[in-house]
Amino acid sequence: MIDYIKFLKEKLKGYSFGLIVRLELESLFFLMSSLFPTTAGVILRAILVKLFFKKSKGFAWIQPKVIVVHSERLIVGTNFVVNSGTYINAVGSIEIGSYVIIGNNVTVSSGKHPIEGQMPPIVSRQTIPQKIIIEDDVWIGAGAVIMPGIKIAKGTVVGANSIVTKDTNEYDIVVGCPAKFMRKR
Ligand SMILES: CC(C)(COP(=O)(O)OP(=O)(O)OC[C@H]1O[C@@H](n2cnc3c(N)ncnc32)[C@H](O)[C@@H]1OP(=O)(O)O)[C@@H](O)C(=O)NCCC(=O)NCCS
Repeated sequence: MIDYIKFLKEKLKGYSFGLIVRLELESLFFLMSSLFPTTAGVILRAILVKLFFKKSKGFAWIQPKVIVVHSERLIVGTNFVVNSGTYINAVGSIEIGSYVIIGNNVTVSSGKHPIEGQMPPIVSRQTIPQKIIIEDDVWIGAGAVIMPGIKIAKGTVVGANSIVTKDTNEYDIVVGCPAKFMRKR
């Protein structure tokens, strides 16, 4: 038990009480909004985006069962579309432009676990924040993973199930694991 309390303390280091409450409310409201899967839910989630995100232009179209963490560090532009099952963690901050569509089951996570050395165990280490930027007019296919610190340039298409480990150039289509340039749009 004492060990677990020590572990919790380490995990929550730097988190104010206010931030913990905010994170709880954010996950609770987004989860609850999944009870309304269609139009009513889309409108409800568009309101949640306005309430919780750091900044948002216009209105978003978010399908049910999208998980958003640290939305206080998340900026989105207009006409932002996200499909079900996607996980967006803005621990290291994320900036998303306008006219961006993120497919289902995509991971966009802006924190990295330090892996060098054998002690302490990775789970006990502090996450390293690494900002992700997704510019305007980007389409990210189903199941893709956008690694921490990556910039997805304007007009990029990321193929289904691709893992993006390097920045892209404008209007590139990238596919595969790791994602490689396929052709220009
Ligand atoms: C990336 C994408 C847009 C490319 O479409 P396209 O230009 O019509 O590509 P093609 O089907 O002609 O494929 C071209 C080549 O790339 C390969 N390729 C296409 N998509 C790929 C992917 N996601 N991963 C790996 N290779 C892929 C094809 O196998 C083909 O290879 P070959 O030339 O050796 O035969 C499309 O394949 C894709 O992944 N779309 C995402 C769909 C999706 O996720 N929808 C739901 C979410 S909204």
